[in-house]
Amino acid sequence: MRWPRGVSRGPALPEGGWPAQRILLTGASGGIGQALVDEFAAAGARLLVTGRRGDTLEALVERHPGQVTAMTADLTRPKDRAALIGAAASAGCNMLVNAAGVNRVGLFESCSDEALERLITLNLTATLQLTRALMPTLLAARHGWVVNLGSTFGTIGYPGQVGYCATKFALRGFSQALRRELADTRVRVLHVSPRATRTAMNAPKVEAMNQALGNAMDTPARVASAVRHAIEHGREETQLGGPERLFTRLNSLLPSLVDRALARQLPVIRRFVATPGEAAPHDTP
Ligand SMILES: NC(=O)c1ccc[n+]([C@@H]2O[C@H](COP(=O)([O-])OP(=O)(O)OC[C@H]3O[C@@H](n4cnc5c(N)ncnc54)[C@H](OP(=O)(O)O)[C@@H]3O)[C@@H](O)[C@H]2O)c1
Repeated sequence: MRWPRGVSRGPALPEGGWPAQRILLTGASGGIGQALVDEFAAAGARLLVTGRRGDTLEALVERHPGQVTAMTADLTRPKDRAALIGAAASAGCNMLVNAAGVNRVGLFESCSDEALERLITLNLTATLQLTRALMPTLLAARHGWVVNLGSTFGTIGYPGQVGYCATKFALRGFSQALRRELADTRVRVLHVSPRATRTAMNAPKVEAMNQALGNAMDTPARVASAVRHAIEHGREETQLGGPERLFTRLNSLLPSLVDRALARQLPVIRRFVATPGEAAPHDTP
């Protein structure tokens, strides 16, 4: 298997390896989150997993007895975040994996204020606030980690996902700035950008659009494996997918070329997203 290339500056997983890691994982009830639980647990780590759907979290606890504990939390609620931070500190968590996220596919002009607020509140505000609240615990650990799940759409502005792009661009900036601020500490900050992945986040019309455009979709297991690889090798920035790596670079160096390529795709994108935006099945209005 070929691993995604990325930028490596930080150390690899320190002595003690995975069995020494205590991970707080958000978005654990989601497609990528569940795969991450399986990946980290198989490696020997212990996890505190969170999401809003208690039944899905309980299934993960049962699947990995003794390794996984669960706590339901709505990350947009300060009280829930505070309870989670308390539990993570008690569990001695030294790694935070921010995988909770929502998307909204549709034309920007038809996006409601509520939908925009939901995107920004979870993908950005709650993620930053949770990370900040856990900082004392991470800084006190022998080795601390923040691992943010970004997206190709955190580098390439994409029609039909304008609000989501705004949050994922900001998450990439947050990851880079925090990494630089913590450069003289033992806390490493990684940012992993999956390309399109087969989870409930993508409604059938989005899968159909990706197929029509020839965009490859990864399995959640593939993403989880890449996240583990990034952590094991201290890769600070990882972009999954060969064509996506090329396009993200091209977008930085010669954005007008990507403008033209996306302009050619626009009629197809409009055809799939022109109906009012669909929330992911697990997203509450
Ligand atoms: N799927 C893709 O194509 C793709 C591509 C690139 C990047 N990503 C990123 O990868 C991450 C995981 O995505 P996914 O595909 O696994 O999505 P998913 O299957 O829809 O899962 C989303 C997760 O976020 C949690 N969540 C949503 N709202 C929440 C809230 N208010 N409070 C707490 N948790 C909340 C959900 O938990 P509950 O439903 O239990 O609340 C669920 O665990 C996201 O950051 C996403 O942006 C995904």
